[in-house]
Amino acid sequence: MISIKKIGVVGAGSMGQGIAQVCASAGYTISFYDVNAEIVEKGIQNIARNLDQAIAKGKATEELKNSTLRNIKVASFEDLKVDLVIEAVVEKLEIKKKIFAELERINSDKTVFASNTSSLPISKIAETLKIPGRFLGLHFFNPAHLMKLVEVIAGDNTDQNLVQPMVEFVLSLKKNPVFVKDSPGFIVNRVARLYYLESLKLLEEGAADIVAVDKLMRSAGFKLGPFELMDLIGNDVNLEVSKQMYEAFDRTPRFKPSPIQEEKVGKGELGKKTGKGYYNYEKK
Ligand SMILES: NC(=O)c1ccc[n+]([C@@H]2O[C@H](COP(=O)([O-])OP(=O)(O)OC[C@H]3O[C@@H](n4cnc5c(N)ncnc54)[C@H](O)[C@@H]3O)[C@@H](O)[C@H]2O)c1
Repeated sequence: MISIKKIGVVGAGSMGQGIAQVCASAGYTISFYDVNAEIVEKGIQNIARNLDQAIAKGKATEELKNSTLRNIKVASFEDLKVDLVIEAVVEKLEIKKKIFAELERINSDKTVFASNTSSLPISKIAETLKIPGRFLGLHFFNPAHLMKLVEVIAGDNTDQNLVQPMVEFVLSLKKNPVFVKDSPGFIVNRVARLYYLESLKLLEEGAADIVAVDKLMRSAGFKLGPFELMDLIGNDVNLEVSKQMYEAFDRTPRFKPSPIQEEKVGKGELGKKTGKGYYNYEKK
């Protein structure tokens, strides 16, 4: 029997913030941790701001805001003794593996571990765990407090009895779970990779500028153009995912990262989170 009441969220960047918010709003108690304590404080402020915006639109109440914020506790790593840990740290295999090894040291055998990875194989992250059966992928989308889809990913060694309870857990967050097998980029990132990379090729070839591409794709029915979306995701995260998928598909040219992505990351133009990416977001 899996009983989830306390959740640890590790990583308080773009994704960790949204994940902490939806879990806390659904009534779970959150231990919120990041190596950088300032990011946790900033994350909680952003959650309060998201809820204020929802209240202004009539989509949330003051009570929900208060209970959500009450449910989120700033945590030290040693506080992450919980029923479920959702990890949302940088997209680096060795960092994720190290975190889960440490989490295994402080948690009971019953604690479930999930990664929000976009592109790393679930089976690989779990390979050094003592209990790999407790591990799976829960892939939320950006912004996690608004996007409904969550990919639920079982690795080679994930206990099959874990899948249904975790699907139900996702439903308890009022999200739409979709079960996916462990394959590079899962479903959405594999399909969407070409949205980004082909648009970057148009830019490399000088065929169109970013404003034109974004405007056209929005008029074709996409909610955000590719460059707006890359700025929302974070150009560092997007480049890392492109690299992982390129390697995972034996360097097939269709998934080759663009030099423009490298250039953006090199300049620190990571998108909305740094105030500049393909567009400028700095407050004047
Ligand atoms: N950005 C997206 O659109 C998106 C969407 C879905 C999934 N993801 C995935 O979610 C994960 C996080 O992405 P993000 O966009 O939130 O990144 P981010 O760069 O906004 O945040 C990452 C956070 O991890 C923290 N961190 C780094 N090392 C750590 C450690 N050892 N212990 C604790 N915290 C640590 C950093 O301080 C930072 O706050 C990645 O695996 C990414 O692939 C991202």
